[in-house]
Amino acid sequence: LDELEFNNVQIDQHGPIAVLTINRPKALNALNADTLSEIAQAVNMIIEDAEVGALIITGAGEKAFVAGADISEFGDLEGVYDGRELALAGQDVMHQISSLPIPVIAAVNGYALGGGLELALACDVRVAATTARLGLPETSLGLIPGFGGTQRLPRLIGTGRALDMILTGRQVRADEALGMGLVNYVADNALTRAREVAEAMLKNAPIAVSLVKEAVRRGMDTTLEGGLEIEADLFGMTVATKDFREGVDAFLNKRPAEFQGE
Ligand code: HXC
Repeated sequence: LDELEFNNVQIDQHGPIAVLTINRPKALNALNADTLSEIAQAVNMIIEDAEVGALIITGAGEKAFVAGADISEFGDLEGVYDGRELALAGQDVMHQISSLPIPVIAAVNGYALGGGLELALACDVRVAATTARLGLPETSLGLIPGFGGTQRLPRLIGTGRALDMILTGRQVRADEALGMGLVNYVADNALTRAREVAEAMLKNAPIAVSLVKEAVRRGMDTTLEGGLEIEADLFGMTVATKDFREGVDAFLNKRPAEFQGE
């Protein structure tokens, strides 16, 4: 994976953890069309690598995670159709990320604005650097969030907080973001903490980890009753795994479990 060449993203792999870095420092890592498509390709390649058990997404440099969609490309947009296409293209990439079977952690190392925050929202867990600033300033440009922000933000932090953030477009600091559940952790070095979180997740049974993600994701789109049925079905699948036997045996024999993902 390390050998792959992209212009605006970079992949580093250390054991089972892949780090995808958005790297366009001259535009604070803003997502132009090329970068979005490179993210999609890179994620596809990462997921095909059986060794990778967790993905961290971060931004290059100290200043920005991702400062949004690339505003300099907005001049090319004309009318309803183009706008809708742009939103759908970004939403596809965010959906691709949010439906990955492995844990995905955003290491928010600076500005996460607009499409940048929407990218972080597509991840399972967010770690913010103490200097991070998070916001959805789209209304200040005459837009609304279009890469999932109007849907994922209220699901994560509730409608009242989400509407406040989107209607004011204000930038939320890391400590406030932590208080409202917008991020899970705040650390001086977001990437280092994200690796620690990934390591903790990697200790657990991979199939169970992946099925938890599926249960939560599908459950969010349905009724409580429907979600509980999904949970029971997926629980049933975990009981049929070798890793379940291993986990129970390890507990009873007071030894660490060694999961094989089977
Ligand atoms: C293109 C961007 C950019 C962006 C920053 N840059 N953000 N270019 N798109 N989203 C560029 C600047 O133009 C500048 O280029 C360089 O990066 C450094 O940025 P500065 O503004 O000089 O830095 P600073 O003064 O420190 O301000 C940082 C900032 C500001 C607060 C993050 O850059 C900013 O407000 N950026 C825009 C944030 C935003 O509105 N994002 C939402 C976009 S809409 P030069 O060449 O001058 O050095 C969106 C919609 C998604 O994301 C959904 C669509 C369907």
